[in-house]
Amino acid sequence: MRLSRYFLPVLKENPSEAQIVSHRLMLRAGMIKQAQAGIYSWLPLGFKVLRKLENIVHEEQIRAGHIPMLMPTLQSADLWRESGRYDDYGEEMLRITDRHGRDMLFGPTNEELITDIFRGHVSSYKDLPLTLYHIQWKFRDEIRPRFGVMRGREFLMKDGYNFDLTKEDALHSYNRHLVSYIRTYERMGLQAIPMRADSGPIGGDDTHEFLVLAETGESEVFYDSKVTDIRLGEREIDYDSVEQCRAVMEEFTSLYARTDETHDEAVFNQIPEERRRSARGIEVGQIFYFGTKYSDPMGATVQGPDGKPVPVHMGSHGIGVSRLIGAIIEASHDDKGIIWPEGVTPFHCGIVNLKQGDAEADAACDQLYAALTAIGLEPLYDDTNERAGGKFATMDLIGLPWRITVGPRGLKNGVVELTSRKTGESVELSPEEAVKKVAEIYAPHHPHLAREEPVAGRSFHTWL
Ligand SMILES: Nc1ncnc2c1ncn2[C@@H]1O[C@H](COP(=O)(O)OP(=O)(O)OP(=O)(O)O)[C@@H](O)[C@H]1O
Ligand SMILES: [Mg+2]
Repeated sequence: MRLSRYFLPVLKENPSEAQIVSHRLMLRAGMIKQAQAGIYSWLPLGFKVLRKLENIVHEEQIRAGHIPMLMPTLQSADLWRESGRYDDYGEEMLRITDRHGRDMLFGPTNEELITDIFRGHVSSYKDLPLTLYHIQWKFRDEIRPRFGVMRGREFLMKDGYNFDLTKEDALHSYNRHLVSYIRTYERMGLQAIPMRADSGPIGGDDTHEFLVLAETGESEVFYDSKVTDIRLGEREIDYDSVEQCRAVMEEFTSLYARTDETHDEAVFNQIPEERRRSARGIEVGQIFYFGTKYSDPMGATVQGPDGKPVPVHMGSHGIGVSRLIGAIIEASHDDKGIIWPEGVTPFHCGIVNLKQGDAEADAACDQLYAALTAIGLEPLYDDTNERAGGKFATMDLIGLPWRITVGPRGLKNGVVELTSRKTGESVELSPEEAVKKVAEIYAPHHPHLAREEPVAGRSFHTWL
């Protein structure tokens, strides 16, 4: 993308309505624009990051054996009357009446709708286990929408639902989700710690929330500092293996880590004092096992091996996709702007032309642009006439992890400069070496780069 043709309405001044850094930076970097309280338009740069997060979520859900689909945003009130939640859910639910006087609602979550789909089509235990999920907009009429996309009223959520014959099978689904969620967050450059939590209006006994530690987080959390040392990393996990998934779940949840709702001082005080931590965190996901809470009242049964109908055991599992963008920025920024982790960056590297209109500099930038694009990477080339300082400030603000700076002086010596956004360190390289280096950096995120294969068509990531 050439900046002269893009839509990147960056703000020079700090918007006064933004109280926390991620909200401020998302507005300043031209990622979002508020439409109404808690409702945002996703401008091109923000939309690109949102799509990247969605892709990671899809890849990791599909890897775990979960099946993508899409349910509507508007749901029938009658379904919610069946589960008993129509009255229970309260003021957070946006209720709508259509022209025929039928009660509808903008879905805050989808347990009822998915259970209805399930009971309409699945009748035998032989069709289990089954986990279906979608990534869809939700609406919750939050009393205090704030902090930008962190607590919106309209927000994007991945929600998945498992259907199993027995509690034991459903707990395997629970563990499988826990593993796949940790992988998902790690790929986004985040550490999200599973913490024992309260189930709220979803219901059920077993539940963990995933929290990213951040001073601006809305949740109060208590944990053993040793939990922050645990990583999943590159381990291969067989998602069908009950033992492997359980082992990871135990590894990640055995040490003390709880939100304030389930915090227990007596248990906490058994941890050596120097390891006791209380802090704040951003909830970026939650998993639940709730057994037959919905299948019982809604009649979602299957014929068991003995021919008798049994209600299925269910769980639901959510990732706050749009909130994650705020969480990533809270975890990764400096006073100049955002610092995107390589796995989620909207563009892989910036190209800054120090002397637009200089024939040599223009040609070198065009060649770099073509070479990066040819290997499947997306550069953002600042080809505007802005002065160098302004170009650097914009690149720093929007946070691309790498920047290639091209100027007539360097080109005389056959070099360009490759700069890391995170460390600020620069190296001088020939343009060819710079392209090779950037390809190496992104190889873990784009396996075709490591194999030096040509890109067949456009990748899933670049359709935007
Ligand atoms: N108002 C919101 N704005 C943005 N993301 C949200 C919002 N509410 C929930 N989420 C995200 O969706 C995920 C799954 O939804 P869940 O039903 O667990 O939310 P929740 O526990 O009610 O969230 P919270 O306690 O923050 O209100 C949450 O972990 C969170 O990341
Ligand atoms: Mg929650």
